[in-house]
Amino acid sequence: MINEEIITAIDIGTSKIFGISCLLKETGLEVIATHLMNFSDDIVKKGRVADIEEVSNCLYDVLKALKNQAGEPIININIGIGGGHLNGVLYPRSIEIEPKGREISESDINTLKKDVQGSILAAHGTDRHVLYTIPQNYIIDKVNTTSKSPVGMHGNVLQMNVHVITCEVNPVLDIKNCVKKAGAQVEGIYPHSWAVAEATLSEEEKKLGCLLVDMGKGTTDMLLYGNGSMVMTDSIKLGGESVDTDISKVLHTPVNYAEEMKKKHARADYNIMIQEKQQSAPENIDVFDLSGKISSTVTSERLSQIVYARIFQIFGDYIKKSVEKASILQGRTYAIILSGGQARQNGINELVQSIFNIPVRTGLPRGLLNLDKAYQFPEFTSAIGTVLLASRNERKKTKQGIGKKIEDLWGKIKRNF
Ligand SMILES: Nc1ncnc2c1ncn2[C@@H]1O[C@H](COP(=O)(O)OP(=O)(O)OP(=O)(O)O)[C@@H](O)[C@H]1O
Ligand SMILES: [Mg+2]
Repeated sequence: MINEEIITAIDIGTSKIFGISCLLKETGLEVIATHLMNFSDDIVKKGRVADIEEVSNCLYDVLKALKNQAGEPIININIGIGGGHLNGVLYPRSIEIEPKGREISESDINTLKKDVQGSILAAHGTDRHVLYTIPQNYIIDKVNTTSKSPVGMHGNVLQMNVHVITCEVNPVLDIKNCVKKAGAQVEGIYPHSWAVAEATLSEEEKKLGCLLVDMGKGTTDMLLYGNGSMVMTDSIKLGGESVDTDISKVLHTPVNYAEEMKKKHARADYNIMIQEKQQSAPENIDVFDLSGKISSTVTSERLSQIVYARIFQIFGDYIKKSVEKASILQGRTYAIILSGGQARQNGINELVQSIFNIPVRTGLPRGLLNLDKAYQFPEFTSAIGTVLLASRNERKKTKQGIGKKIEDLWGKIKRNF
């Protein structure tokens, strides 16, 4: 039986804190509390805490709201991290089994793990913290195994592919500090992109190979899957805010007006609009100045051109390069899935499809029971994925707990005879 335990995830993004608490039930994960707090100031910049006091205060309020809905204090929380200082690479490592054809043991796997750890330390020293080492698959004598562990199988050469996610130490310490100041403690830390993948991708998409991109306000996180394995995790310090800043600079309007114009009137697929010479008459949009007065007008076409230029740069330049480094996209990636608030930009799927020439869809959250419609949008996938990942760990612990209870009972029975 599964404990009906509350699992909470908090996403501290550049634009907002979103908290979600769920009950782990036999039927699945049921949402019992949610709270969204949008920031009015820049207290988080490019995914990194910029004002510890203010973020702690906001977090305190979010936890209080969750407590009121859940009916009990929220102490242990799971958080997501990303944002420019996170990076993940695949380490393929192999050893010869001596004598040849012997049964593979746990100590062979430990040897491979130590080899990976040595490589990470040599590459990064102590500047980066190893967040996760996730064995992806094992290859015995060049044959990909499908079992979770190769222990007990026979082989001459064992290869292990491990996805290692590292992050800068200081941003994580700052988040932990905020959580402590808000009266809670960190139970688990999960990479944003990994969490978003959990909330949006199907197992089939992971197997076929896909690229997940979460474009928020200050950062863009990505995760590449190939053959069901995580091939590359990366994050860049550019997001929707850079689009707003461009509009603001070009049209001499404050950033908050620029953001509204982007959301309401722009399309990202300006390249396609131009090629197809879409005939609909361009809309004239009012441009506001600092005092809130109309200072000029701009056509929707010109506005779209500004939005297109920045999003094209992020995808066509940075993301493409990052993915090409992992040298797997061509012909082997089935689809691109876009998430994060900026994925709601009109025409963004069409633009990204025109750059990569593969199908693109919006990543919406799934996997929870009772999720309010207000949160069924791409900007909530990170917190939702984090709660899903945390629940998987909880299930594992529960299973191990049951296993342990059975072992203890068996021990008692044996002792009694
Ligand atoms: N309809 C829309 N069209 C275009 N952009 C949108 C739309 N709705 C939201 N956005 C943009 O999405 C961004 C916020 O997304 P999100 O909530 O995912 O960011 P975040 O998680 O706070 O930030 P980050 O992950 O970068 O730290 C903002 O830049 C906002 O302008
Ligand atoms: Mg985000």
